[in-house]
Amino acid sequence: MHIINIVGARPNFMKIAPIVRAIEERKSQGIDIKQTLVHTGQHYSPEMSDILFTQLGLPEPDINLNIGSGSHGQQTGRIMEEFEKILFDIKPDVVLVVGDVNSTIACAIDAKKLGIKVVHVEAGLRSHDMDMPEEINRILTDSISDFLFTTEKSGTDNLIKEGHSSDKIHFVGNVMIDSLISNLEKADKTTILSELGLSEKNYVLATLHRPSNVDTAKQLEKLGSCLTELAKDKTIVFPAHPRTVANIESFGLGHLFSKTNNIIITKPLPYHEFICLIKNSHAVVTDSGGIQEETTYLGVPCLTLRENTERPVTITEGTNILIGTDPDRILEEYKRIDSSDNKQAPALWDGKAAKRIIDTLLSVQ
Ligand code: UD1
Repeated sequence: MHIINIVGARPNFMKIAPIVRAIEERKSQGIDIKQTLVHTGQHYSPEMSDILFTQLGLPEPDINLNIGSGSHGQQTGRIMEEFEKILFDIKPDVVLVVGDVNSTIACAIDAKKLGIKVVHVEAGLRSHDMDMPEEINRILTDSISDFLFTTEKSGTDNLIKEGHSSDKIHFVGNVMIDSLISNLEKADKTTILSELGLSEKNYVLATLHRPSNVDTAKQLEKLGSCLTELAKDKTIVFPAHPRTVANIESFGLGHLFSKTNNIIITKPLPYHEFICLIKNSHAVVTDSGGIQEETTYLGVPCLTLRENTERPVTITEGTNILIGTDPDRILEEYKRIDSSDNKQAPALWDGKAAKRIIDTLLSVQ
């Protein structure tokens, strides 16, 4: 079996790394399985891509399509055009995509139209918010996938409700947590806390990058003011996504996200440093999807600045609180944070999801 694994944007790298390792493990046991790693180049800055490859122990991509940034149509279209050529050339048996970014849907469409099996890892998650580009990518990718690997029960339930055959759906756990577990020791060894002058539990980690939060001056200013309020209680560490940095600059909001307001703004951080910051924080304030899962696993309170989440298990079984973006609500929930309220990791978030995925694929080929 020849599998092409696709990565494109930052959160894909943590999801693919354990899958690449699981394939290598089976290969070393004499199983006839081959893999090719394709990077679409959706993310390309060293801090959004290269450093993560190094820290996650990912091999250099076999092929980089170097697509870069663009509008949704441009980016998706360019990936489709370039990836199709690779498929003509390599003729794999399987294309494996993860998550919900533009690279995910673009490569899935190419493969499906050429009669190649499509595997979607992290299938079935639904925010039920069609204004999110990721929700469109999720629904479309699932609709053409031959294997749907889910991370939580809601994913399986959503797929069944949408009419997918249960034969295609496999609840295997969470590959992002596989990566987290296998990198915790390295995260503990980083010096990021002392580099930033922080100590355990005396700071809040914040991230913002969703277009709905950062693409208009009004919303970004509202959230910036809110962080400034929280920073009166504890230092805020704010590793800023390139999209957010560009908008802070173009909207002239640099005065809000500033050291004088007790907000430490940094570049996007490497994986180990970031995990170390989550683990030792008083709380995390974010609009990211993956961070809701990482905080749940680590038992760190997470205030999610969104109206919905596609990862409800992080609320029902984890440490996540969905608070929307109303400043009063954010401040109120912040005051209520109880870090002793530790919960258990959701089912099958045990570091073995990638092995289950590869073994399932091998068992049905
Ligand atoms: C993408 C994903 C989003 C994911 C996020 C993680 C889609 C639709 N969105 O959003 O689901 O949560 O990645 O980061 O696929 N840029 C750089 N360097 C890079 C990449 C981007 O400077 O390496 C800048 C560019 O100015 C670009 C902007 O960031 O225009 C946004 O990048 P893009 O890939 O379009 O979307 P993200 O917001 O990163």
